Amino acid sequence: MPDAHNSGLALPGSMLLLSSMSDFYDDLAPLYHLIFDDWDASIERQGHQLTSIIRDHWPGTSSILDVSCGIGTQAIALAAKGYRVTASDLSGKEIARARLEAQERRQDISFSVCDMLSAHSHHGGGFDLVISCDNSLPHLLTDQNIYAALKQMFDCARPGGGCLVTIRDYEQEKRGKSILKPYGVRVEGDNRYVIFQIWDFEGDIYDLTMYFVKEDLHSKRVTTETMYSRYYAISTTKLIRLMQDAGFQRVKKVDGYYQPVLLGSIPA
Ligand SMILES: C[S@@+](CC[C@H](N)C(=O)[O-])C[C@H]1O[C@@H](n2cnc3c(N)ncnc32)[C@H](O)[C@@H]1O
Repeated sequence: MPDAHNSGLALPGSMLLLSSMSDFYDDLAPLYHLIFDDWDASIERQGHQLTSIIRDHWPGTSSILDVSCGIGTQAIALAAKGYRVTASDLSGKEIARARLEAQERRQDISFSVCDMLSAHSHHGGGFDLVISCDNSLPHLLTDQNIYAALKQMFDCARPGGGCLVTIRDYEQEKRGKSILKPYGVRVEGDNRYVIFQIWDFEGDIYDLTMYFVKEDLHSKRVTTETMYSRYYAISTTKLIRLMQDAGFQRVKKVDGYYQPVLLGSIPA
């Protein structure tokens, strides 16, 4: 990829980054649904919104590869809409949970653990649509890594197929230190959770600590689980450029989802 797009960051070795990434999501896996007010309602809503975008742009879509499925939010949603879904993620614990969640909802999805940077050697090509949703690509931390992942997504899709990426709208986010991002209060069984993140920016990179403060409603005992990760606050403008560099055509941003959605087509 062109050097001009390199963010020029001094980063620790990629193996270290990958292992701390999967640690974060392995730890988060059992609690992930609590980030949402109502995870099932969110699955339903996302399925509806994504299907509408897919039908508008690639009406012939039948097979979908999700390269960062987490516990299965979009994979389950799209399988429930009738798509044939293959899904993978770096976090083994998220994949284990995604399998159970899909089974419970009677959705037949082929799940596996895979680094999206090796998506093509793992999954092969020929998918109608390849997706990566809810701010997964910014975990890759550099333009070079994001470009490499987009190339993998490009290679996994069939000629005439497409790619759909959603990311947080970082142009709307405040920069600085000790930024509080509240997720809300959830009650589940005998426990009440207060959930929030704290962000600390250094340039375009920010460290994120996620807090789950759990109160046992009977004993009133309070415990806190924290987990740490890192993100690159990449702009949609830059991501569009990287998609174009990776070979996608007619790259554009569309509305109709809770985050910006970027679409790119593979030449037929
Ligand atoms: C914010 S979560 C979104 C998960 C899912 N799409 C959802 O919306 O529930 C970001 C996901 O990206 C995954 N991820 C980060 N780096 C990855 C990589 N190199 N390869 C595959 N997955 C990765 C994480 O493990 C995590 O599941």
